[in-house]
Amino acid sequence: MTEEIGLIGSFNQLFTLSFFNVFLLIVCLVSYLLIRYTITFFTIYFKFKHLPGYVSFFPPLIDSMIHRKIYVHHLYDCALNSFKNNPSAKVVKIQLGTFSQIHISNDENLIREILVKKYKTVSKGNLFEPVGIFGPNIFSADSNDPIWRKHRTLANPIFSSSSHLKNVFRVTLEECKKMIKFWKSIYGSESDGTIRKVNISNELKSITLDVINRVAFDYDVGIFDKDAAHRDGIHDWINNLLNGLIYNFVLPKYLLSKSELLSAIFIVLFAGFETSSTSLTFMLRMLAKDQKLQEEILKEINQEIDNIDDITFEIITNKLPLLTSFIKEVLRTKTPIGTGGRIVLKKNGEVIGGVHYPKDTHIGVSYYSQHYFAKNGLDEFNPYRFLTTKSDSSSNELEKSDNNEFENDGKGPMGELSINLATDKLLPFSIGPRDCIGKRMALLEMKLILVFLLKNYKLKVPKGLETQQDSIKETYVVTRTIFEPYLVDFETRL
Ligand code: HEM
Repeated sequence: MTEEIGLIGSFNQLFTLSFFNVFLLIVCLVSYLLIRYTITFFTIYFKFKHLPGYVSFFPPLIDSMIHRKIYVHHLYDCALNSFKNNPSAKVVKIQLGTFSQIHISNDENLIREILVKKYKTVSKGNLFEPVGIFGPNIFSADSNDPIWRKHRTLANPIFSSSSHLKNVFRVTLEECKKMIKFWKSIYGSESDGTIRKVNISNELKSITLDVINRVAFDYDVGIFDKDAAHRDGIHDWINNLLNGLIYNFVLPKYLLSKSELLSAIFIVLFAGFETSSTSLTFMLRMLAKDQKLQEEILKEINQEIDNIDDITFEIITNKLPLLTSFIKEVLRTKTPIGTGGRIVLKKNGEVIGGVHYPKDTHIGVSYYSQHYFAKNGLDEFNPYRFLTTKSDSSSNELEKSDNNEFENDGKGPMGELSINLATDKLLPFSIGPRDCIGKRMALLEMKLILVFLLKNYKLKVPKGLETQQDSIKETYVVTRTIFEPYLVDFETRL
């Protein structure tokens, strides 16, 4: 009996001891991690001590939660506020715990140095690997990776040539007509053709998706020929589409392997419809809210065309300056992609603006901040801002240098419908060899859809929903987005 008690006692002692040991082990581990974290934090802090900016001891997600913001949006705002607080700074740092990023803005030459001159030494590295779900693609691959060059060289003419852009024009016009028929079938229409409470956030996704499929892949999915339930299962649909599309890609198929083709299709779909559709959503919402501006733009459209069938490629690319200025101002104030993420790849580091940055330094070209200060724009929305933009000979030279090396002429077939850092002080599509391959297509498509809708309908915020719609918050998850839909009434113009 005594022996038994003794055994139980020593077992309990052992258990208590080991429990204590485990506890001790956890405390030691946590302390070790905390010390390591603190050392790394201070190492980074002292490395960039000379730069103004925002520093928090907390890691990105916790710091964003403290500020009640989504991480990406928080990062953009940290950079913007740092520039606001240090108006003469061209470079600021953001340090969230052990993550740090150097943000560049406010200086066109510095932006050019990174995005144009040093695009190979300050490049994407493996920063965008997660976007390469099907393998490296044109967006995710590093500028030194032959895959990027191959894809870019093959895809560039498809998104820039005159004949391709005319095809974008033709297809977009056809899709606009189908879209209205589809809206009437799912939302119903009044006797005069008015369609109410259209969920533009959803609807514009459908049209940009249909257009990109037809022009980039020569594949007509006919999203407006199907029912709403089918359309709403959009993500399943994209997956099926990716597989179905593979043999219909316009790129010369024999030059790409099957997996290269899949990754190319994936990224063009991914990059090509979300940005255009959300930008258009913001544009329609702003016009629905501002009747005076809407009528002014309509007046400009009416001076060029009596009937929507009179619309031509030349009118969209060379005329309607107020509408072009409005589009630029929405892209300025609601920048779809806020930062161009890069990393210093050169073994011994790279000099940017005369300052040396070590290898692996994260660099963010802050399009978001650049737009805030563009033309002293600050927060004020001014749709007339870009009406006065004029190129002179020095800006022409800069425009040429900002264009990517795959193009001969910056404007190409796009006439006046282009955005330039030199004259507009904007770069929603970035600049240089890694700029947006679909920039011309996006501008053309957005402007044509706006003309089509304004010519046929008066856009209004639905009665009784003004306050609810005003309360919808826009944020950045990857691109600028909203979680609740914007709704618009489309009243037939008699
Ligand atoms: C409003 C619409 C759009 C905006 C604002 C936009 C913006 C951008 C920006 C800022 C970049 C550069 C990102 C960086 O700095 O890393 C980019 C790259 C890219 N965009 Fe767009 N984009 C739009 C529409 C499109 C469309 C319609 C397509 C489809 C053809 C497209 C395809 C791409 C591709 C493939 C790249 C990667 C190019 C490369 O790295 O060589 N985008 N876009």
